Amino acid sequence: MNRSLGRLARIAAPFAFVLAIAANPGSVRADDAAPTLPQMGFNNWNSTHCRDEFNEAMIRGIADKFISLGLRDAGYHYVNIDDCWANWQRDKNGQLQANPKRFPNGIKALADYIHQRGLMFGLYSSAGTSTCEPLQENRGFPGGLGHEKQDAATFASWHVDYLKYDNCNNQKVDAQQRYTAMAEALRGSGRHIFYSVCEWGENKPWLWAGKPPVDANSWRTTGDIRDEYASMLKIFKENVVLDGYARPGHWNDPDMLEVGNGGMSTIEYRSHFSLWSIMAAPLLIGTDLRTIKPDALQILLNKEVIAVDQDPLGVQGKQVRDADGIHVIVKPLKDGSEAVAVFNETDAATDISVDASEIGLKKTASYRLRDLWQHTQTKGDGSIKAHLPAHGIVMYRISAL
Ligand code: GLA
Repeated sequence: MNRSLGRLARIAAPFAFVLAIAANPGSVRADDAAPTLPQMGFNNWNSTHCRDEFNEAMIRGIADKFISLGLRDAGYHYVNIDDCWANWQRDKNGQLQANPKRFPNGIKALADYIHQRGLMFGLYSSAGTSTCEPLQENRGFPGGLGHEKQDAATFASWHVDYLKYDNCNNQKVDAQQRYTAMAEALRGSGRHIFYSVCEWGENKPWLWAGKPPVDANSWRTTGDIRDEYASMLKIFKENVVLDGYARPGHWNDPDMLEVGNGGMSTIEYRSHFSLWSIMAAPLLIGTDLRTIKPDALQILLNKEVIAVDQDPLGVQGKQVRDADGIHVIVKPLKDGSEAVAVFNETDAATDISVDASEIGLKKTASYRLRDLWQHTQTKGDGSIKAHLPAHGIVMYRISAL
């Protein structure tokens, strides 16, 4: 395939995918549509937690924004809801039910609304006796432990495409056992449901969650992110060293994006988004898209950076330098080029230089350096020189000429 055809195919892929869903929403299979790439979409948790604003009207509004803001066309396709969607009790048959105040039309109607817009729908539960958020004392929302088959059947009947499965109130039952029980229930449910394990890295899930019998699509590697530079930095450092465990269809998950929530600067959010992309992390937007500011939206819509995250080779970037607060991460791409991020974690601006050999390039050849934030390109020997502000990043795609 020549270069422009390849580019066209990359741009067209999300369209083919949404058309397939729109044609037959009930039968859509997450893995058919996006078989191997890190998941992209939205989850309400980072912006709303359990506040009352988390409800049916909000989530429908978010789905609409996926289309009007161009996010669906940029590849974001999951609209996921987090903790606090459920009613306090199961019904008389033991089935999970939606909180009638937040979701008066029920979960299936919400999934239908999302599917009608060519998007996919994700739900949350916990591999414990109740979920994480105790809104009232001694009371939690029902969890899946011991109810795996019934709950998976319920999710399938509601046309759920994605399950985030948390770790609270697990009664100290072995993690692999708990996550296997739901994995088997999902596989037996008759519907392909993307499986996102969320046990916060407590039991080294990178060693087992991506393999049978769990065979999850992603696993959280860390505790919860907060909308602060220090939290993002800590999580990046924990996740970047796990590159050897990620592979197509099975990804390390350093938690959802905070871009747009207001606790970091634009420079820091750009670093956050770049680092997640070069780590082939899930790109789950965690801000309220109905009120997002232009600079945050511009970050989330940077298609050149998204293309690094979504590159079909499916390799998590490798950190080749971690010294004096400067991190260099290199991610090989399908077309033979390399994505390179150079990140300055320190509080002072600095000039950096990275030799071509550090990136693994042959020094003799000449290269095109595409700057993925400035959208400009230069020619050179593959080495990088740049001025980095405090907490700033540069990101390039380097291809042989
Ligand atoms: C845990 C998870 C978070 C979120 C909350 C909901 O803390 O790690 O991502 O789902 O539970 O209560």
